[in-house]
Amino acid sequence: LFLGPVDFVKGVVAMSGLPPDDRTEICFAGRSNVGKSSLINALTGRKGLARASNTPGRTQEINYFAAADSHYIVDLPGYGFANAPVSKVQEWQALLKTYLAGRASLRRAFVLVDHRHGIKEVDDEIMTLLDRSAVPFQAVLTKQDKVKAKDREPVLAQVREKLGKHPAAYPEIVVTSSETGDGIATLRAIIATLA
Ligand code: GTP
Ligand code: MG
Repeated sequence: LFLGPVDFVKGVVAMSGLPPDDRTEICFAGRSNVGKSSLINALTGRKGLARASNTPGRTQEINYFAAADSHYIVDLPGYGFANAPVSKVQEWQALLKTYLAGRASLRRAFVLVDHRHGIKEVDDEIMTLLDRSAVPFQAVLTKQDKVKAKDREPVLAQVREKLGKHPAAYPEIVVTSSETGDGIATLRAIIATLA
């Protein structure tokens, strides 16, 4: 999946703008600022491919990237708090939910969770939406480099416990850092099996 070059295709602001659903796609969802865009850059080895920033609410469109002409990688706007006008936030959050619930070609959603914070209420809600829509999802912990070794296991235990309540969740949790590259090869290998 990541053997060929990955290129930006388009940014989508309404369901009508989605490309035809004739390719398998995977998406990256998660709270604003959790590290979705950074993870796509780390996975593809292209720093500026998906725009990342320290301001929550950076990604405001559904951004499509094409890998090796055969798959789509989708960077989603975040949910939860964002530094943007309320009406805009409501618009993109509605779009995000409609996308997650109704995209036929969506093969797996990766739900990113900050390793410092674990699964929050708003993550649980998105996971429930994925359960109801029967979209298989996998949790990816981000920013591992910011968590002390001794603080990791309690958060992992919380994530495990929460995932256990979601029928659409894969039990395997991927622990990553886009900063150090930890877990990136593992995640690439998982994605490669989804061809
Ligand atoms: P939105 O598009 O606003 O929803 O955010 P996002 O989830 O796409 O997050 P983004 O990739 O823009 O990253 C947010 C901030 O976290 C940026 O300042 C990144 O540099 C930082 N960041 C992302 N991943 C990591 C990581 O693994 N380690 C560290 N230390 N910082 C990270
Ligand atoms: Mg983003």
